[in-house]
Amino acid sequence: MSKKRDYEILTQNNFREDFSPFYGRRKGRRLSNAAKCLLEEKLSVYAIPDKTHNPIEFFSHNPEKIFLEIGFGGGEHLATEAKNHPKNGYIGAEPFLNGVSSLLRICEDNRIKNLRIWPEDIRHRMSIWPNDCLDGVFIMFPDPWPKTRHVERRIINEDNLAQLTRLIKIGGQLRMASDHPCAKNWILAGILENSNFDWLIEHPGEWNTKPESWPETRYMRKAVAEGRKPAWFNFKRVVV
Ligand SMILES: C[S@@+](CC[C@H](N)C(=O)[O-])C[C@H]1O[C@@H](n2cnc3c(N)ncnc32)[C@H](O)[C@@H]1O
Repeated sequence: MSKKRDYEILTQNNFREDFSPFYGRRKGRRLSNAAKCLLEEKLSVYAIPDKTHNPIEFFSHNPEKIFLEIGFGGGEHLATEAKNHPKNGYIGAEPFLNGVSSLLRICEDNRIKNLRIWPEDIRHRMSIWPNDCLDGVFIMFPDPWPKTRHVERRIINEDNLAQLTRLIKIGGQLRMASDHPCAKNWILAGILENSNFDWLIEHPGEWNTKPESWPETRYMRKAVAEGRKPAWFNFKRVVV
């Protein structure tokens, strides 16, 4: 398949819509010509390959550990993790094309080789990957969906938690953060109700402070600048 054709398929959103969307927008602000060019030229270089559904085979360097970020936004958090840990492999999912082009720019500028992109809804992939294939998942500042009628769109719901439980190895990590009062609640309640994950917390109120090694995200900076206070959650996949 040519790069141009790849680009057209990916940007036309031709995937089956089996799920109600839980992301707000795929195309937001008009894509600049530079962003279009990057997507056309480079997305096929970083896109997860069609020929396999096993994350270990997405990389040529036999990664020590594999991490997935769901909804990477502008890609700052994922790219920093990938750059700091070159022996690992990182997969990012984000349907918002301005965000995908922003991550491609960071990868090109920093010569990041251990990162693969799924420019679509992650649910189309999670269901077909094998058990225990991930060492951790990052979900930073998920869309909050505060209204009761949108409960099913929240990323921490029964179906997605079942997939995360299946995909994350025992001992693996689920890293989350949110600045939205309602989302902080549904994240904690959803995970604590699920005995497959332990909340790693040593001191009361620890969740008020970003762990030093966790990279910042664009959304986090915006939230802090606007006076909101994020919460930081680290969960561990455990044996039940
Ligand atoms: C509030 S933004 C946060 C972005 C980024 N994590 C940050 O902290 O700057 C949530 C992101 O999740 C993405 N998202 C929502 N549902 C998704 C899904 N099903 N698969 C992949 N990404 C998704 C949205 O497109 C959006 O960019």
